[in-house]
Parts: sequence; structure tokens; C-alpha cells
Amino acid sequence: MNPVRLIEAKRDGETLAPDEISAFFAGYLEGVVEEYQMAAFLMAVVLQGLGPDELQALVRSMLHSGAVLNLAELGGPRVDKHSTGGVGDKVSLVLAPLVAEAGVHVPMMSGRGLGHTGGTLDKLEAIPGFRTDLSLKRFRELLGAHRVAMIGQTDEIAPLDRRLYALRSVTGTVASLPLISASIMSKKLAEGLTGLVLDVKVGSGAFLSDETDARTLARTMVEIGEGYGVPTRARLTAMDRPLGRTAGNALEVREALECLRGEGPDDLRRVTVTLAAEMFVLADLDATPEAGVARAEALLDSGVALERFRTMVRAQGGAPEVVDDPGRLPRAPVVREVRVDRGLTLHRLEPRAVGEAVVELGGGRLRLSDAVDPAVGFDELAPPGTRLASGDLLGRVHARNEADARRGEGALRDAVEEEGEALHPLILPD
Ligand code: URA
Repeated sequence: MNPVRLIEAKRDGETLAPDEISAFFAGYLEGVVEEYQMAAFLMAVVLQGLGPDELQALVRSMLHSGAVLNLAELGGPRVDKHSTGGVGDKVSLVLAPLVAEAGVHVPMMSGRGLGHTGGTLDKLEAIPGFRTDLSLKRFRELLGAHRVAMIGQTDEIAPLDRRLYALRSVTGTVASLPLISASIMSKKLAEGLTGLVLDVKVGSGAFLSDETDARTLARTMVEIGEGYGVPTRARLTAMDRPLGRTAGNALEVREALECLRGEGPDDLRRVTVTLAAEMFVLADLDATPEAGVARAEALLDSGVALERFRTMVRAQGGAPEVVDDPGRLPRAPVVREVRVDRGLTLHRLEPRAVGEAVVELGGGRLRLSDAVDPAVGFDELAPPGTRLASGDLLGRVHARNEADARRGEGALRDAVEEEGEALHPLILPD
């Protein structure tokens, strides 16, 4: 295998044979293909795409780079959810304990921040002590004991996705239908599921912003899942504004806790219960999504989903006290209010700009070696359609120092749109 020839062939739009794809990715894991060669190859894929056989070969390589779990010993349904990535998307933190509380096993393998979007692992690790790097043995034990565990890709499961995911995040190679499909589906198929729900984001804060592309992505992933015998359902949800009113790791944990208490922003709750309902239907718990929504709402309002979250935090080494006292989450030294200096009606805060500003504040990575600051970001973000009088709050910046806070303020003001195309409905029709 000559890596340079394969990179050039993909660059020139040639279709590679499945065994060439397999050899290239196996070579990467073995150290024969260098990091910079993989980055070049990924960029060629972003620009040229992959054919169906190439995509299948990529999914196979990624899936079989580590163990494929058989969790049948747990008994009962095992259903997970994965999002294609958005700004302020803290749904998994609420959804996983909620669905586990209903009696479904949720073996959730998530990712870190990717490009301008936040990642579930970085959010969970904002909770002091929380460990996402569990061994396979411990993952199984926790699933057996609590029905839910949330981990990252490891040397044992989906190691190829772990490396590619980190590399793509810092090389501008995320926004690719085949790369997103293979990344998500390889992780999810390794989890040994009986059902999978996909939250496919649509709008400028998503990696594939266009609705037609998002629908193709959804169809592609559903076909991959079903092809491997996993009943898979996709919902399209709006990412043309941030989800909820926070963006940034610890701030999003705080908002997820509000939702788990039956409070918090309506959009976060609606997306969460919609996806939970799909998971309940796949688990044969409910006959219709409507019944599933009612079940999910009751679990949030009664506080039992919050208790399951507390159990999970304790089991994964985190400080359970944050559940009752979110003030114990990391806090940024500078909090700056951003107020409008004239009256306006907010069409929306452009979500990609908000996500990029979080990364600039230190809440995401620009280089592979960057550490993430859990405390920084934005909260109290004004929702779309808000009528703001002069002096009203647009949002608050949480920053490491005054200079960053000033830059964050500028970015938030730049994200303001007073007019534009009609926004997508929060949950798009099928
Ligand atoms: N989520 C993933 O796990 N991978 C992607 O490529 C995008 C979102």
C-alpha cells in the first residue's frame, strides 16, 4: 500500500477499492500512515466524497478497529441516541439517565468537542472527578448495575474513531457526509444495541447545514444501521439557533440539571422528550411516540430522572453534590453581561458564531494538544424572537480574563441577526 498514491487518487476523484480503504486505515492504526497523510486524505474525502462501497469499507474498518460488544447478558432492550453535533446540544446528559430510568439500557459512547460544536465527554468532565475513560469491564458492570454509563471511544472500542475524530476536529475535515456517517455509526454499532435514534441537526450551526444534505445524512445512517441489523430511526431537529440558553461545558451541565429537575428551557425539553419517545418505541415500551412523550415528561417532572443522573455521576467518580449545588461546577473568574444599546427584535443568535466564540474562549480545541476550559462560555442567551428594549440582556460571557470577556462580548454582538429566513420548526416533520 502506497499512502501517497491513495491520497492522490482520492484527491483526483477516483473511486478506491474497498481493500485499499481498509489498508489505508489499518496502516494508520499501525503507524505506517502518518498523521499528516491521514489529514490530507480526510480533506480529499471532504472535497470528493466516498462512493457507497468505499463508505461501507470505511464503516467496517472503523467498527472492527476495536471490540464489538455483545451486551445480551444485560437482558432487555439496549437503545442509544447520537447527535450529528450542534451548539448548546446538551440533550444526551438529560436523555441517557431519563431513558435508563424507564427500564432501557443505555450504553452511550460519545465524543469530545468537534469543530465549533461541544462534545458530551467534555461536558461530563466539567463535573469534578467524572471519568469517561472506563474500561470495557467497568462499562459492563455499570450498565448491569444502573442501566446507564457514558464513556468515550477507547483503545478497546472504536479506537480508530477516537483518533480520526480528534484529528478531524482540528483540520477542518468534519463537514463530510461519509465521514460523519462512518464516525457515528461505527461507534454506535460497536455498542451492541437493539435500537438507535439519531438526532440529525439542520441549520447553520450543524456540520451539514442544508436540509436536503441533512436528510441524505439521516437516510445514509439509517441504511447503515439497518444493514447491520440494528433498528434505526432518525429525527431532524433545528440547529439554526443554539439549543437552550447556554453554550460551554459547565454552563451546559447546569442547564441539563435544570431540565432534569423539570425546569429549564422549553426547546431543550422538547427535543429531549421527542428523542426519548423514539427510544421508548424502539424498546417496545410504548406503542406510539405520543405515549413516549408523556412517559418522558412524567420522568422529568417527578425528579426520578435526576436521581438516575446522580447515581451515574457517583458511579463514574464524579461529585454527586453538583446535582443539588451546581455552584460547585467550575466557574470562570470573569462574568460579563452583554446588553443591547437600542431596542430590537432578535431574529436569532447565529449558532456557528456562538460555537466558534466558545472555542475561542478556551471551551474547545484549536489544536490536538489543547486542554479545554470547562468554565467558559455563554449563558442567558436570548432566544429567537425576543423583543429586547435598550439595556436588556443579550447574554453573559464567562471568560478567563477581561480581554477574553471583551472578545466574547464582540463575538456575541456579531452573532445577532435581526432579520433572515424563517427558522426551521424545532422538530422538523419526517
Ligand atoms: N458526531 C460524531 O460522533 N462524529 C461526527 O463526525 C459528527 C458528530
